[in-house]
Amino acid sequence: MKRAVTTVVVVFFVGALSLVTAGASAAAPAADTPTFTKDVAPILYEHCVVCHRPGEVAPMTLIRYEDVRPWSRAIKAKVESREMPPWHADPRFGEFRNARGLTGEQVATIVAWSDGGAPRGTAADLPVVPAFPDGWAGGEPTYIIEMPVEFELPTQGEIDYHNFYTPVPFPEDVFLKGIEMRPGNRAAVHHAGAYNVELSAHTHLKDGLLYWDADDQLVELGTVRQTSRETLAGVTPGSEKLISYVPGRGYEEYGRGAAKRLSAGKMIHFHMHYQPTGRPERDRTLLGLYEYEGRPTHEVVNSLSAVGPSTYIAAGSELQSLTLPVIPPMVEDWELIGITAVPNAITIHGLSPHLHLRGKSMTYVVTYPDGRSETLLSVPNYDFNWQHYYDFAEPKRVPAGSTIMVRTLFDNSLKNRYNPAPDKEVYWGEQSWDEMYAPQIRVTLDRYDLSKPPGKTQ
Ligand code: HEC
Repeated sequence: MKRAVTTVVVVFFVGALSLVTAGASAAAPAADTPTFTKDVAPILYEHCVVCHRPGEVAPMTLIRYEDVRPWSRAIKAKVESREMPPWHADPRFGEFRNARGLTGEQVATIVAWSDGGAPRGTAADLPVVPAFPDGWAGGEPTYIIEMPVEFELPTQGEIDYHNFYTPVPFPEDVFLKGIEMRPGNRAAVHHAGAYNVELSAHTHLKDGLLYWDADDQLVELGTVRQTSRETLAGVTPGSEKLISYVPGRGYEEYGRGAAKRLSAGKMIHFHMHYQPTGRPERDRTLLGLYEYEGRPTHEVVNSLSAVGPSTYIAAGSELQSLTLPVIPPMVEDWELIGITAVPNAITIHGLSPHLHLRGKSMTYVVTYPDGRSETLLSVPNYDFNWQHYYDFAEPKRVPAGSTIMVRTLFDNSLKNRYNPAPDKEVYWGEQSWDEMYAPQIRVTLDRYDLSKPPGKTQ
């Protein structure tokens, strides 16, 4: 196999950041072997059952001893390899308020329990099973927006992404202190996203789906049409991400005076990725909106891609470059470096790397005006199935004159077990067999204080 290391350095000076832009056990275990009821259940209840419970996306429940016992070896393997609970940040960098992961001691307890025959323990030791009320994580939302139609899933096979649109039902912009995306059917929704978008004037909606006026063809996301006069994008590039749903996480609150603007006159876009369960399933996902009371100080911007070649320039909603240099076939570590200057002070609230199946790793590094560098986040083993948002415990203030560099590796070789076609060149695209480079970043712009009269920046 050919192995080549290619480095593409793309330096962009973008205003994007400023513009957008338990009973007794059968076999008596050794006295010091941990037991399910006393030692293991507390770990599972705290770190696993949020996903491993009935009706959730994980393949088995990990609540009763009878459920857990047959999985003891698999559990040992997955916690030792750090594949479970799913969390992909290198613990050496950054502190995140939504961090998942077990301590070395917790892993050692599970390993000793499994190796010791996975004993049950004494019933009296069993902790209370955590309650997961099937309601809204943030309490009753101020507004609830439904997906415009109910989606009926095929029972098997690969399901393409589905995009549904519904108008923002408010006459004026609304500021939100929090948002929750709640699947109607948690077993069916693999992951999803909601956006605030503007549709092309050359499109129309039918049953929540978007069609081109010219020929009534469904608008495929990310595609453009060329007419004699203009290039049309079905959805304008200045679209703002509202929230992502991945199992175990679909509720976000901004806090610290920050709020997210929901623009009136635009559409709410439900970007849905479904997985068949083998049974007939239906879904109608909901979006819960929590209105900010009063006037927020700062507006949260989720820049889809703040660093590098896929950066959107908001002014004039012009697509900077919805492209990625072509990734050659059979290349293991294909490197892409994007550098973005920060012309105005920003506060970074969190980061969310987004790549597709060839994505291997991503690291965000900020270099301050005094020359100091700091790694904000390193995801050494990117996994397309887990679209995490890494939410800083303390927001990072990045002064004017700093730069943000994102280093990404793609693996288009046979070594990548997720690679659908190592012998092919890979281009930018919406589909998972195409590739993306989206080092997403959530910022507030320090100098725009919304609580002050317009024109007066700090
Ligand atoms: C955020 C949701 C989530 C959390 C938290 C989570 N899991 Fe999982 N787990 C999944 C999903 C989804 C799968 C199936 C897909 C996969 O393997 O990635 C899975 C798969 C597994 C498997 C492999 C099952 C098989 O079919 O081989 C094991 C074992 C496992 N999890 C154990 C755990 C343990 C132990 C914890 C807690 C320490 C945990 N998980 C926490 C979602 C989760």
